Amino acid sequence: MNCIKYLSLSAVVVLALACTGQKKAGTIGADETVEARVEALLGKMTLAEKIGQMNQVSAGGDVSNYADAIRKGQVGSILNEVDPVKINEFQRLSVEETRLGIPLLVGRDVIHGFHTIFPIPLGLAATFDPALVEEGARIAALEATAQGVRWTFSPMLDIARDPRWGRIAEGSGEDTYLDTRMAEAMVYGYQGRKADTTSMAACVKHFVGYGAAEGGRDYNSTFLTERQLRNFYLPPFEAAIKAGAMTLMTSFNDNDGVPSTGNTFVVKDILRGEWGFDGLVVTDWNSMGEMINHGFGEDRKDVAEKAANAGVDMDMMTYGFLSHLEELVRSGAVKEKTIDNAVRNILRVKIMLGLFEHPYVDVEAAKAVQYAPTHLAAAQKAAEESAILLKNNGILPLKGQSRILVTGPMADAPWDQLGTWCFDGQKEHTITPLKALQERFPGQVTYVPGLRFSREKRDRFDDVVSAARGADVILAFLGEESILSGEAHCLADLNLIGSQSELLAALKATGKPVVATILAGRPLTIERDLPNCDAVLYSFHPGTMGGPALANLLTGEVNPSGKTPITFLRTVGQAPLYYNHNMTGRPYQGETLLADIDLEAGQTSLGNTSYYLDYGAYPLFPFGYGLSYTTFEYSNVSLDKKEYGKEDQIAVSFTLANTGECRGTEVVQVYVRDLVGSLTRPVKELKCFERVELNPGENRIVTLQIPVQELAFWGLDGTKKVETGEFQLWVAGDSASGEPLTFSVK
Ligand code: NOJ
Repeated sequence: MNCIKYLSLSAVVVLALACTGQKKAGTIGADETVEARVEALLGKMTLAEKIGQMNQVSAGGDVSNYADAIRKGQVGSILNEVDPVKINEFQRLSVEETRLGIPLLVGRDVIHGFHTIFPIPLGLAATFDPALVEEGARIAALEATAQGVRWTFSPMLDIARDPRWGRIAEGSGEDTYLDTRMAEAMVYGYQGRKADTTSMAACVKHFVGYGAAEGGRDYNSTFLTERQLRNFYLPPFEAAIKAGAMTLMTSFNDNDGVPSTGNTFVVKDILRGEWGFDGLVVTDWNSMGEMINHGFGEDRKDVAEKAANAGVDMDMMTYGFLSHLEELVRSGAVKEKTIDNAVRNILRVKIMLGLFEHPYVDVEAAKAVQYAPTHLAAAQKAAEESAILLKNNGILPLKGQSRILVTGPMADAPWDQLGTWCFDGQKEHTITPLKALQERFPGQVTYVPGLRFSREKRDRFDDVVSAARGADVILAFLGEESILSGEAHCLADLNLIGSQSELLAALKATGKPVVATILAGRPLTIERDLPNCDAVLYSFHPGTMGGPALANLLTGEVNPSGKTPITFLRTVGQAPLYYNHNMTGRPYQGETLLADIDLEAGQTSLGNTSYYLDYGAYPLFPFGYGLSYTTFEYSNVSLDKKEYGKEDQIAVSFTLANTGECRGTEVVQVYVRDLVGSLTRPVKELKCFERVELNPGENRIVTLQIPVQELAFWGLDGTKKVETGEFQLWVAGDSASGEPLTFSVK
């Protein structure tokens, strides 16, 4: 509730609140006036009209497809229509041609921008910059709401520890704290700190555990214990709801046998009961119907009953509610009060969005908002901050090379650099790295693609190699097409796809400096490619303005500051490998690897620890890692106390110095380990981060505050609390560096 004060929607509602001094209630910030409107409307509705509100359909292009259903009051929401003319017509049908005139809630997957496309969410997480992420979400809301879209199915808050899972691109990576900060930022951005007609309801998804799909295969089962859910997977959702998120989507997966859309424990008990969520719960696309495939229900009637009784308010595309709720209510299988509550949740959101007062948009005005220069500038900044410098032997930033070879399948791939879940971004507006570099270096750039798309196979690269011989530097843009990540696009092999590694090897063999820039939807396993590169810049899919952003980074006009939001594996066989794993009984000590084992060696286990014989225990790059063109030094790290009470703040101070030659930004990270607990605890957990920008030679004393309550966890007794005892704390530029300080909590 802390942040609800920012989230009251519609100027009318804000005004009413100010005049009456009424108290807000619930998580989405509705006041008594809103509640009174909800009750008044609900009191007039027939059972059929109520059930109609609980039905969401996909627009499918032609307004006439659903005109009759809308007139009959059988549609509460549509998704997948963005044409403002059609949206106005849909709204007109609903407002002017239905008995009660209830407007539609128009939804769309606006995941990382509407028209102006920002980096994919995994890239946004690499910025460690919640303020910038909030700005990006605000821009997405400005563009989308101008066309009549008032509901986005974002942010995706699924913690993902397995990069084989294609949807890792859509979230903030593996860490609960980072995900939480990004979740809040996106909710504030979409909905607006101060609400008006540009507020777009956020939908936190997928509730819950979907990112832990077995083997990284989308739609697969998860087996998360209640404690894992509470300690790692639920906190971002809870934080987003505290920040005022108006809606939530149930996920496709079954967790330990229970599909989310019929999971009373997570939806009814935790979300509604413990957190008091009074927003709207929608299913994922036909996830109600998929409960039949799960074998969790016999038919659509059965699953409709299970979903309604679990606390789901709206059915996305199963038509289970529309077809069966009436008879389920008559038979007593679903209580009418359950339907009433669902409709309250839906109406509350519609009222708070101001849809009753403002159902229509100005079609002409909407055009001016799209791709506004300020939006493009913010998208470029986000792309700049999201790129991670993984290797640099000094070749970057480019300095004075007059003949530049640009190559690789992602150098001029205007669609693919936009990334996954990009319905409305138009490739005609994309600026590719090739275009940006040609503009930056007129007459100096030779372009030989080598591979036309990432999956292409080729045996020889004579054309590229001969061009490389005449170049001073080779800029290779590699990675994966956007369709290789995202929903339903999982991979078992995470090496550079097609013949891209072979291309790099051929380039390296020319003896010319090779800079690889990788545009991808996930952390690929690039260990075998590193020796063939003098520098590697990892940008994920950077969006509309990726080209100018990458050109700025390569030339040093902007200094890289992105950090890995996910562990980069050496090989896919290490998955899942994440930094905040539990302390094991045999921590790795860097021992015998495969090559050291004698033939016919006897079985032994004593003294051995947790690792792979062939790949050891460590990743290629740890969580939180990223280089800069300058260097940073941490010194004088100290705590304000040795011992803290449970309600105290821990103040950690240190001096950060820019010891290099150029201005740069360091993402300072604070990690904590609870040394002895009533449960095995993670080896480290991120508890705070901050971007700090310094001039060359500048020192700054930085103090960060961490509430001791941040150390709380759900224990064996089913409660969340801080345990007393000894802790370690690190301040560093990544999760694998720094020397620990100790403190205790009593
Ligand atoms: C299915 C996806 O899982 C979900 O994330 C998305 O919002 C819906 N489809 C609607 O497109």
